[in-house]
Amino acid sequence: MEVALKAARFHAWGGEEHLSIDDIPEPTPGRGEVAVDVVCSSVNPVDIKIRAGSHRLLLGWRLPHGTGLDFSGVVATVGAGVTALKVGDRVWGSPHHSCPGTAMERTVVSANDVSTMPAGWTFAQAAAMPLVGLTALQCLDRAGLRSSERCLVHGASGAVGQVAVQLALSRGATVIGTCSTSRSRAVEDLGARAIDRRGDWMAEVGQADVVVVAADVDHDELTRRARRGTRVVTIVADLPELVAERGAWIGTLLAGVHMAGWSVRAAMRGVRFHHVLKRGSAADLDRLRTEAESGRLTIGIDSELPLSAIREAHARQAEGPRGKVIVRVRPEPA
Ligand SMILES: NC(=O)c1ccc[n+]([C@@H]2O[C@H](COP(=O)([O-])OP(=O)(O)OC[C@H]3O[C@@H](n4cnc5c(N)ncnc54)[C@H](OP(=O)(O)O)[C@@H]3O)[C@@H](O)[C@H]2O)c1
Repeated sequence: MEVALKAARFHAWGGEEHLSIDDIPEPTPGRGEVAVDVVCSSVNPVDIKIRAGSHRLLLGWRLPHGTGLDFSGVVATVGAGVTALKVGDRVWGSPHHSCPGTAMERTVVSANDVSTMPAGWTFAQAAAMPLVGLTALQCLDRAGLRSSERCLVHGASGAVGQVAVQLALSRGATVIGTCSTSRSRAVEDLGARAIDRRGDWMAEVGQADVVVVAADVDHDELTRRARRGTRVVTIVADLPELVAERGAWIGTLLAGVHMAGWSVRAAMRGVRFHHVLKRGSAADLDRLRTEAESGRLTIGIDSELPLSAIREAHARQAEGPRGKVIVRVRPEPA
């Protein structure tokens, strides 16, 4: 008999009211994949954007659609060809954006997107880190940030920003972070100098070797204020706004045109401009685990809600939480 598992899915593009907890058949891993019994998942801004339909041209139109791109859990079964993981391993990961979701009792993901979670971390902490940690790490790698350089993180109080600050400090860089004044204490506690994102923070851009953009910004203004040779790495695009205004086809096309335009105009000013889209990577998760186990990397948790409260979890994320919103799927294993 087919076993039914609980999964959070949405049945129409739009608000969190379209989310429900559905029974789905137990997924089985194919070659190179593992099935993970999810203990916790976490919510990211992109989950809200995907649910609203911003990415439907890129990720597919098919509904219902699962939600969640982060997980911690225990390996339940391994597919053919998987040697790095075994049943019972405690793992974390962030699969590709087109995956069937992670806010569910069991998810199937590529073994390349999964690694052993940090020793001493709870499953809630471990579910909070993968997507934002991989993003921040891959931004600093793309920028080639080196010891003794100056790194400006825009959006340093956010989840990606906080990780970028810690990883940049761990590389020996001097770090300046923009945030609301109400959150400057949190950024300074990480070891960065905090500056008000509502003031003329771009005055600092000319002194930076690397700028990580993890919050909304005028990219053209930013690269105009940068000196030649500065490496600017952004993770934000105007896809959601453009799709909402112009529809999926034209909005998606325009977002690509805007991004290419920022990049070309930056190059004309001698600024190296990159857009980073997080990649799943077991090797990069291992590097994050090393940072976490050494005590150089932490992550703040805003709240924890059960899978049955998936609508509330998405609503909390949309409000602008102070840390990650965790979705608990099952109790911490003994
Ligand atoms: N490309 C990728 O692969 C990738 C991966 C992860 C995330 N992202 C995107 O990166 C962004 C940040 O993600 P996150 O998880 O760090 O989000 P988050 O935890 O919600 O943080 C958002 C940050 O944005 C700041 N902020 C809010 N409104 C702002 C505004 N109007 N202007 C400037 N800053 C503003 C907040 O600062 P204060 O609270 O201090 O005001 C906060 O630090 C999101 O757009 C997300 O979708 C992209």
